[in-house]
Amino acid sequence: MGEVDPAFIQEPEHRPRISYIEGKGVPLIDLSPILSSSNVSAIEFEGLVKEVGDACKEWGFFQVINHGVPLEMREKIDGASRKFFAQSLEEKRKVRRNEKEVSGYYDTEHTKNVRDWKEVFDFTIEEPTIVPASHEPDDTEVTEWNNQWPEYPPDLREICQEYGQEMEKLAYKLMELIALSLGLPADRFHGFFKDQTSFIRLNHYPPCPTPELALGVGRHKDGGALTILAQDDVGGLEVKRKTDGEWVRVKPTPDAYIINVGDIIQVWSNDRYESVEHRVVVNSEKERFSLPFFFNPAHYTMVKPLEELTNEQNPAKYRAYSWGKFMTNRKRSDFQKLNVENLQIYHLRISE
Ligand code: OGA
Ligand code: NI
Repeated sequence: MGEVDPAFIQEPEHRPRISYIEGKGVPLIDLSPILSSSNVSAIEFEGLVKEVGDACKEWGFFQVINHGVPLEMREKIDGASRKFFAQSLEEKRKVRRNEKEVSGYYDTEHTKNVRDWKEVFDFTIEEPTIVPASHEPDDTEVTEWNNQWPEYPPDLREICQEYGQEMEKLAYKLMELIALSLGLPADRFHGFFKDQTSFIRLNHYPPCPTPELALGVGRHKDGGALTILAQDDVGGLEVKRKTDGEWVRVKPTPDAYIINVGDIIQVWSNDRYESVEHRVVVNSEKERFSLPFFFNPAHYTMVKPLEELTNEQNPAKYRAYSWGKFMTNRKRSDFQKLNVENLQIYHLRISE
């Protein structure tokens, strides 16, 4: 990524600020009560559930520590990711994403029709992952997504698979806390993830000569259920604070994970927990690496507000939609620079 292609330039109102707020930020939650299940008091556990509920409601984002994911596993995948991206473009493009295989390497992603200053490697947790063959609503055919694994580093595949299992475990625990915080049984969401379409993205944000004009990832909301992100110590993730709409930097905390509610939880909770906009700011000196895990349900899930959370006074705010169709629609818009906005959940809102 040498000189700056105009495709990377953000509209003036979306350009990042050079000085930023790092203050009163995203809540930090200690998950140790769910790790040591034996000697946890009911009060302690309820306190944790409330903390998670409050964070989901007030921020849509939080960080967790004492989450049970071995640090060694995170260091391994981080190391493998750095080795992979350090290769030549030619080498990386051998596992390039294409019309048939959406997993693999690519460096041309667009968010809201502006190119992102990053390169990525995607892989799904289920191999293969079953998804609709097309985004066309009436097409019932399904297809398989298969992962493409690079030759180098040779242990990347195994490391990624191991890490994926850890992410899945943590995601289920978090979904239990979220369910409890909504007054639902702990396992209320589990069934949706049986044939999950979850995936992990290795992100590399190279130094950018014009960080005031471009973004690593443009402002967006995550379309899935829940995201678990590991960021390195460089920093750059910004979250749109609900109270005043300011962009707030999430300060890197060693060994913490950043959790955010995606669009599906917003719909399931009928807007009690909103999916919040975020973006990534780049800088001219340091490259940055991050690893999001996107926890997504089975493609055949019809996403709609949960019946337990709706009633006559609080009717469903969304009509049911197929997750698989939503996702394939989104993937499609990643490919070409479309001149229209891609599918958003507000398009599925029931007007009042
Ligand atoms: C994303 C995302 C944040 C980051 O990939 O959806 O928001 O810090 N990434 O890389
Ligand atoms: Ni995101």
